[in-house]
Amino acid sequence: MERSEQLLNTLWKRGREFLGVEYPILGGAMSWLSESNLVSAISNAGGFGVIAGGNMPLELLKQEIDKTHDKTDKPFGVNLITIAPNFKKHLDFVLETEHPYIVFAGGLPPRDAIAKVKQTSSKLICFAPNVNIAKMLVRGGADALVIEGSEAGGHIGPVSTSVLAEQILPTLRKIPVFVAGGIATGRLMMHFLMMGAAGVQLGTRFAVSTESIAHPNFKQALIRAKAKDAVPTSQFDPRLPVIPVRSLINGGTREFNTLQLGLIQQIERSVMSVREAVEELEKFWIGGLKKAAIDGDVEQGSMMAGQSVGLVTKEESAADIIAGMVKDALGEADKIMKFTCG
Ligand SMILES: Cc1cc2nc3c(=O)[nH]c(=O)nc-3n(C[C@H](O)[C@H](O)[C@H](O)COP(=O)(O)O)c2cc1C
Repeated sequence: MERSEQLLNTLWKRGREFLGVEYPILGGAMSWLSESNLVSAISNAGGFGVIAGGNMPLELLKQEIDKTHDKTDKPFGVNLITIAPNFKKHLDFVLETEHPYIVFAGGLPPRDAIAKVKQTSSKLICFAPNVNIAKMLVRGGADALVIEGSEAGGHIGPVSTSVLAEQILPTLRKIPVFVAGGIATGRLMMHFLMMGAAGVQLGTRFAVSTESIAHPNFKQALIRAKAKDAVPTSQFDPRLPVIPVRSLINGGTREFNTLQLGLIQQIERSVMSVREAVEELEKFWIGGLKKAAIDGDVEQGSMMAGQSVGLVTKEESAADIIAGMVKDALGEADKIMKFTCG
């Protein structure tokens, strides 16, 4: 075995064993897109696909899990959003069936939800957008973490991937930690592994994969976009809180900004209460991701994408994406070995 292969095998041993896969590369759950086709394709290619439970009706989630089992006999996860209206129903179902891997996203998970998972054989992976939450989750009983930096697509936390990695990877060794946000290449993966990551999670690059059911308009827009086009939603006034979402700038984001400024003026003139304004603002993006990713309305829909969009240049199969990442990681390992050992 080549020295580079030995190095890579050593570095991602923990992630491999935890996930039960050949390559600890997670296809991060993406609402509407992480369904049976994409999830099974990632898992069949040796990675770890994750179904996005999101706001799905329970019946649909059950069907997607069944369909994924029909398409792969490899491990995959189910991502549940702890603040989603159906969260309790989703959780009860995955616990009843003892799905082997449950991922909690969307804010600090309720203690009782963690406790329920711990009573089963399921492994619990939790999202940590900052170091304090990461520590709290380890104490709370998470079996693994995904630390997601603000370069990521979709709903984002406040801290960049590089800073989170530096704060968490070298010291938090108790449980496996996977890194997400801005990762699209094997080279970067190799460096996070060297810092102590158990593996990585990618979203945007898989959104553009052949097996992704995203509308061709959505995929093309992501392929054309530059890193600088994927920006977080703006917030102009603390009275109108906006959960930051990283997406491509388009007509929808511009209208959202105009709406916010208009609502602030109406609050100032006492034409509208803060509560009414918040309600008005919250309505704006309902159905926005489906409009863009499934219906193909790239001008008005929510074009969620990470800054890694600047590294995505073509549509490829999930298997090719994963194989390319492994090849790049080995190339980087080779360089490191030559540099350090001659
Ligand atoms: C279109 C889109 C939808 C997403 N939806 C979800 C979601 O429903 N749940 C979740 O936990 N993360 C979601 N994410 C975040 C991804 O799972 C992943 O962590 C993130 O995309 C990683 O950053 P990257 O895009 O730079 O690879 C979404 C990301 C994108 C691009």
